[in-house]
Amino acid sequence: MGFRLALVTGATSGIGRALVELLRAQQLCVLATGRNIQALEELKKIGAEVLAHDLTQGSKPVLQIIEQRVPDLVIHAAGFGYYGVTTQQTLPLAYQMLQVHVQAALEITLAAAETLQKHQQQGVILHLSSFAADLPTPGMAMYGASKACLTHLCQSLDFELAPQGIRVLVTCPGMVVTPFVTRAAQRPFQHGAFVMSAQQAAEKIWKQINKRKTKTIIDWKYKILHLLLPFIPNFWLSQIFWRNVSKR
Ligand SMILES: NC(=O)c1ccc[n+]([C@@H]2O[C@H](COP(=O)([O-])OP(=O)(O)OC[C@H]3O[C@@H](n4cnc5c(N)ncnc54)[C@H](OP(=O)(O)O)[C@@H]3O)[C@@H](O)[C@H]2O)c1
Repeated sequence: MGFRLALVTGATSGIGRALVELLRAQQLCVLATGRNIQALEELKKIGAEVLAHDLTQGSKPVLQIIEQRVPDLVIHAAGFGYYGVTTQQTLPLAYQMLQVHVQAALEITLAAAETLQKHQQQGVILHLSSFAADLPTPGMAMYGASKACLTHLCQSLDFELAPQGIRVLVTCPGMVVTPFVTRAAQRPFQHGAFVMSAQQAAEKIWKQINKRKTKTIIDWKYKILHLLLPFIPNFWLSQIFWRNVSKR
C-alpha cells in the first residue's frame, strides 16, 4: 500500500528529520512537527508542511491536525533523554518524559486509529522506542521505563487494531548518531565507531513500515545482544548500562 499523507513528530532533528527527508524523496506528502522553528523552515524547503509544537504542553494541536488531515502514516519520533541518579532529578522532568514518550504516543495513536476508522482507511502508526526498553537502565531510569511502557503498548495495540488494517509498529534502535546524547548530557559527545547514522536508521524504519513488522531492533549488533539478554543476569546488565551512561 502506498501512503497518501505522513505525519512525523520529532521531525526537526536526528532520526525524525532523516525520515522526513526519506519520505519526501519518495514524493510522499509530509506534515512535520517539532519545536525548532529554524529546522521547521528548512523542512519547508524540501516540501514538508510544518507545525511548531511542544508536546510537553499537551498533544492537542497534533491531534487536531490528525483529525483534519487523516494521515495514513504517523511516525512519533519525538523524544529526549537525560542522565543521572533518579533521586537527584526533579519530578516535573520525569513527568515531561512520560508526557512525550507515553501520553503523547497514546493520544496520537488513538486519534490516528479513530480517524482512520471513521474514514474507513487503513494505515500505519510507528513509534520510536529504544533498545533500552528491554534492559534495566540505571542512570536513565525514567527513559528506560517510559520506552518499556511504549514498546509494550505498541505491541498490544498492534494486535488489537491489525484486524481493522491499522498497524501500530515500534522500532527499538541502539545507538544512532544524532544530537540526542549531546542534548541529554548537555555537553559535546563524540560517538564511537560502531553506531549507525540517522539516515541508515531511517532506511531500516522505512523497510519495517513496508514489511509491517510489529517490532524491530536496529541494527544487527543489537539484535545479537537482544538474543543474549535472557542469559545475562540483570545486575550485570545494570552495571554495563551504568558504565556506558557514565561515560556520556
Ligand atoms: N539517537 C539514539 O541513539 C536513539 C536510540 C534509541 C532511541 N532513540 C529515540 O529515537 C527518537 C529520536 O531521537 P533522535 O536520536 O533523533 O534525537 P534528536 O536528534 O534529539 O531528536 C529528537 C526530536 O524530538 C523532538 N522533541 C523532543 N522533545 C520534544 C517536545 N517536548 N515536544 C516536541 N518535540 C520534541 C525534537 O524537537 P526539537 O529539535 O524541535 O526540539 C527533535 O525533533 C527519540 O524518541 C529517541 O528516544 C534514539
